[in-house]
Amino acid sequence: MSEPTEITEAAVEAAVAAALAAIDAAADSAALKVVRSEHTAEGSPLARLNASLRNVPNDQKAAAGKLVGQARGRVNQAFAAKEEQIQAAEDAARLAAEAVDVTALPTRWTPGARHPLSLLQERIADVFVGMGWELAEGPELESEWYNFDALNFDEDHPARAMQDTFFVEPTNAHMVMRTHTSPVQLRALLGNELPVYRIAPGRVFRTDEFDATHLPVFHQTEGIAVDKGLTMAHLRGTLDHFVKTLFGDDAKVRLRPNYFPFTEPSAELDLWHPTFKGGARWIEWGGCGMVNPNVLRSAGIDPDVYSGFAFGMGVERALMFRNDVKDMRDMAEGDVRFSQQFGMVV
Ligand code: DAH
Repeated sequence: MSEPTEITEAAVEAAVAAALAAIDAAADSAALKVVRSEHTAEGSPLARLNASLRNVPNDQKAAAGKLVGQARGRVNQAFAAKEEQIQAAEDAARLAAEAVDVTALPTRWTPGARHPLSLLQERIADVFVGMGWELAEGPELESEWYNFDALNFDEDHPARAMQDTFFVEPTNAHMVMRTHTSPVQLRALLGNELPVYRIAPGRVFRTDEFDATHLPVFHQTEGIAVDKGLTMAHLRGTLDHFVKTLFGDDAKVRLRPNYFPFTEPSAELDLWHPTFKGGARWIEWGGCGMVNPNVLRSAGIDPDVYSGFAFGMGVERALMFRNDVKDMRDMAEGDVRFSQQFGMVV
């Protein structure tokens, strides 16, 4: 309990003046809290004056009570006004700090899109996986032996020049950027038990021009099946099922005799569809044939017991006629707006 304080006008005015000055000086709610405890709360000069009222003789009580009451009223009023002002300023500052500009342009991530070539390669592989085939792959930097020799390309055979090859230095290492996915045929045969049914999507490289219908880096999908008793009919049936699943029931396959060193007999694989770009027509799409016995021998397989068929086709070409892409360069330039057109529909 604090000492009783004598209630005089001067004492009351001094307490009020000190309180008002402190209220005026308070800059934020923390400072205002200190003002409350020092100038209005229990123990403050004004509170002590108020408590002293009980000691005032009865005939002076009314006047003293009025004096102290009015003084406390003024201080409380000033305090309330200041509190409101500080509260408003602090609310405004907080709103400004937490403001979200809903008109700001999003700058972080725009959703990308999978490349249509990737989607199409997966679709192709899916058709074969659905028939129980397995995926296979091989290196893009390939030995000349896998890319040519083991596939029955003679040293001087014109077929070797047929594919314009990136030879990789040092040349005595005999490494090339693979010119086709056919070397995966051998790799699929060498590592595995027979029978083999494998599908191999992949990237290939040739010293081609970069123009609307050629890319020096492009994609093929290779298939190989080796089993007992496989014939051209199995090849034909497999390709029929494949193109109908990928392009629709109206699609048709045609095989035209051709030469490839690693298949015998070999054929050009043509595709027909009523609604392709440019109307219903045959489009040359890839090559195929019965695996050459020499290739089977390269893999240590007895061609008198086993036979096989193989095929390979270009993925860029398929995207051109299937999705009406007129310029292959669009597929290589990496503009996401190109990919976004396809969504997931390729
Ligand atoms: N590798 C050939 C090319 O790039 C395509 C090809 C032809 C693949 C006949 C085959 C095949 O599997 O049997 O032009």
